[in-house]
Parts: sequence; C-alpha cells; structure tokens
Amino acid sequence: MSEFIPLSVPNFCGNELKYVTEAIKSEWVSTGVAQIDRFEKGLANYLHVERVCALQSGTAGLHLAMILAGVTSGDEVIVPTLTFIAAVNPVRYVGAEPIFMDCDDFLCMDPEKLDSFCSEECNFNGEVLVDKRTNKPIKAVVVVHVFGNLARINEICSIAKRYNLKVIEDATEALGTYELESGRFAGTIGDFGVFSFNGNKIITTGGGGALVAKNSEDVKRAKHLSTQAKQDTLYFVHDEVGLQLSYD
Ligand SMILES: Cc1ncc(COP(=O)(O)O)c(C=O)c1O
Repeated sequence: MSEFIPLSVPNFCGNELKYVTEAIKSEWVSTGVAQIDRFEKGLANYLHVERVCALQSGTAGLHLAMILAGVTSGDEVIVPTLTFIAAVNPVRYVGAEPIFMDCDDFLCMDPEKLDSFCSEECNFNGEVLVDKRTNKPIKAVVVVHVFGNLARINEICSIAKRYNLKVIEDATEALGTYELESGRFAGTIGDFGVFSFNGNKIITTGGGGALVAKNSEDVKRAKHLSTQAKQDTLYFVHDEVGLQLSYD
C-alpha cells in the first residue's frame, strides 16, 4: 500500500531554522529584512520574471491585482465556480461583483463556457464587455489553477484579449506548475499572477504571498501600494491611498 501523503503538512528539512535564527539574531524580522529581498529575487529567478512583490498573503496579492487591473465599484469580474473563497473575496473588496463561470474536467475555468458567455450573454463595443443581464462592465477574469492543475490558460488569455479583459492568475496552489511546450510557469502567463505561502501551500512562510505581472511597472506599483504608498522614507509623504499588505 502506498504511503499516505498529507495535503497540508509543511516539510521543514532545509535551512529554515538557520534563516529564522539569522533574522532573529539580526533583530530585523520585518522592515528591511534582507531575506525579503533575497526571497523576491530568488522567486523572480525561478519564475523567469523581472520582478516579484512579496506580500503578507495570497489574498493581498489578489486584492492588489484587482486594483492594478483597474477593477472598481460597479464592475464585474468573472471567477470560477470551484475555488477557495479567497479568489472571490477581493472582487468585493473593490466593490465589484463576481460572475461565476463553470469549470472543466481539470477543475479549472472552462474556456468554452467562458467564450459562449462572452459572445452570447454580453455585448462588446470594441472596448468594453457589458453583461446584458446587469448592464455592468466586465473588467477581468480570475483563473484559479486548482490543486496545481494548469487551467487552459492560453485559450482563456486569447478569449480575454478578444474582449479586452485582464487575466488574473490565482496560482496560489500552483507554484512550480508549468506548460510543457513553453516552459512558462502558472502565474506568469496572464496579466497578473499571485502565489500564496500560507501554511498549507507548496512552500510556506507561515503566512505570505507574492504578486508578479506581465508589465513589471505594475509590480513596482504593487510594492508602492502595499507599503502605504509612501513617496519617500524620510518625510512620510503619501501620494495615494495605500494599503498595509507587505512585510514592511
Ligand atoms: C485558490 C486560493 N486562492 C487564494 C488563497 C489565499 O491565499 P492566502 O491564504 O495566502 O491569503 C488560497 C489559499 O489559502 C487558495 O487556495
């Protein structure tokens, strides 16, 4: 009989204790801690992206992705029916409404259903996709790579491109999943990608997350917004409404 493999128990068998001890001995466990910078660079290197923004949670990453995608009050966002609720809550944080889309046999959003929803149940004027039922604009689609399964992301991205929708990949459960043909990692294919390092995830920091984006300027902006939108570190001038979503 094969050995039982628990879904959510972390496996600490490397340098974890050494790094925690180093951080405690340095007396820097949040702001300016060198490990955060190392972690961001290491993750960027692994994912083959220019920049990574480390955050307090995957949920924080999804919240920021909504803001960066321009989703605001009165908009709608397409989300999968099968997911952990944290992929949907950020839609409400920015005052938008979720539209639930069916999933396929791989438990991820079904591109055929998405396509027929956009073409039959919405109007597209060349710029904005409008839900015929509510008359509200649809701005983005959240694709969740459930249990590490890669959603049919290329098909979803081409539908999204046709209807001017931003693609937010929830890769919180899929760090390390990649496309065989291209080698691209889940989370690096759409406009925004989000990872989680919660206690039950593929790697864990206890609680934590990260955001990546097709446009690395968006990642810079995520860092700014997630650290209280501080313009400078000396005078504490804030140039927009910031959030406290980072380790800083
Ligand atoms: C699909 C999905 N989205 C979002 C999250 C939220 O991540 P976090 O717990 O780091 O906020 C999780 C995990 O908890 C998840 O499984």
